Amino acid sequence: MVGRRPLIAGNWKMHKTPAEAREWCAGFRTRLPSFPPGVDVVVCPPFTALEPVSTALRGHPSWVAAQTISDQPSGPYTGEISASMVFSCGARGTILGHSERRAMGETDEMVAARVRVALDAGLRPIICIGESLAERESGVTTEVLTAQLESILAVVHENEVDRIVIAYEPIWAIGTGRTATPEMAQVAVADIRIAAAARLDASRLRILYGGSVTPATARELLVSPDIDGALVGGASLDPESFAMIVEAAG
Ligand code: PGA
Repeated sequence: MVGRRPLIAGNWKMHKTPAEAREWCAGFRTRLPSFPPGVDVVVCPPFTALEPVSTALRGHPSWVAAQTISDQPSGPYTGEISASMVFSCGARGTILGHSERRAMGETDEMVAARVRVALDAGLRPIICIGESLAERESGVTTEVLTAQLESILAVVHENEVDRIVIAYEPIWAIGTGRTATPEMAQVAVADIRIAAAARLDASRLRILYGGSVTPATARELLVSPDIDGALVGGASLDPESFAMIVEAAG
């Protein structure tokens, strides 16, 4: 990952009340008051804990991101949350296009629209792409990843390459305990980088791996030359195991 800052992001999904989130932050700050300055650490709590987590992590080098945003600035969109709303709660980034949201109907076009809105609002998007087990088994992984990536990069300007992060998350590895082998992850991430090179300076594009990353598997994944960090779900819910994954990136 020559020249690219490693990034470790914790995706809490639909876990933790504000009180539980504050408790997590206290534990995390005690366990990891600092980390190597070259590493980005991002905590992605639910909307209701964004403000409490931002406050509880004030002065700590980690930063806070949402788990999605609306592609609309405001209006009659019951249940939706805008980019400026999460920004005002302390978020400086947002996950977009997570497969759990794509499974609920989010299309490539919707993800791309949100990427553009996030960038315009000053949020750094962490954009998820990944193949299903059926797609992997039928040998179309590269085509699937390339199509998802192209629709995202179509809305990103070349000079924004440092502000976006791609997360390669094979759907079959998410929450299953079935991590991709370091070789499989490296091959897919290298393919993504090659595909990205058609549109921007891919040597500057940060690409994470996500899917059942744990303290036990983080180090072997993170030494791969094209993998610039991890998007961590289940193992980020415990400050101790998340801290161990951050240390593996240092
Ligand atoms: P997992 O989730 O680490 O629990 O597999 C990863 C993710 O969904 O981002």
